[in-house]
Amino acid sequence: KRVLVLNGPNLGRLGSREPDVYGSTSYAGLVELCERVGKELGLDVEVRQTDDESELVHWLHDAADAGIPVVLNPAAFTHYSYALRDACAQLSAPLVEVHISNPATRESFRHTSVVAGVATGTIAGFGLGSYELALRALANPQ
Ligand code: DQA
Repeated sequence: KRVLVLNGPNLGRLGSREPDVYGSTSYAGLVELCERVGKELGLDVEVRQTDDESELVHWLHDAADAGIPVVLNPAAFTHYSYALRDACAQLSAPLVEVHISNPATRESFRHTSVVAGVATGTIAGFGLGSYELALRALANPQ
């Protein structure tokens, strides 16, 4: 079973970006973790990152057309991108919204997710472990 793990802006800078908030593991380390967990669960996981809203929207269109489940960390787009939300709304397979940090405990502009209402579920606050939990959720659908 194929799964796409899509990451939004600034997540390519994991490891050097605000390590007190996002940890010291690099983006390459995140890719490795997702591939390793995917293998354990019998999932064919492909991990991507972009800083570009339009590219992320197009990847979601492709996932919608192909009926592929998605793990999405929309990063800052979470809080204001209606284009991203509308793209997510077109998915037919499950969508898990993930966050490394827990946005609810941070600045008030992070308390709103425009994506949450069209996600199957959300996992936040467990560091990179949020991705592992999301992949486990997709491997064991309810
Ligand atoms: C984030 C939380 C967002 O508020 C922030 O803009 C990010 C990362 C997270 O994974 O904790 O870029 O999505």
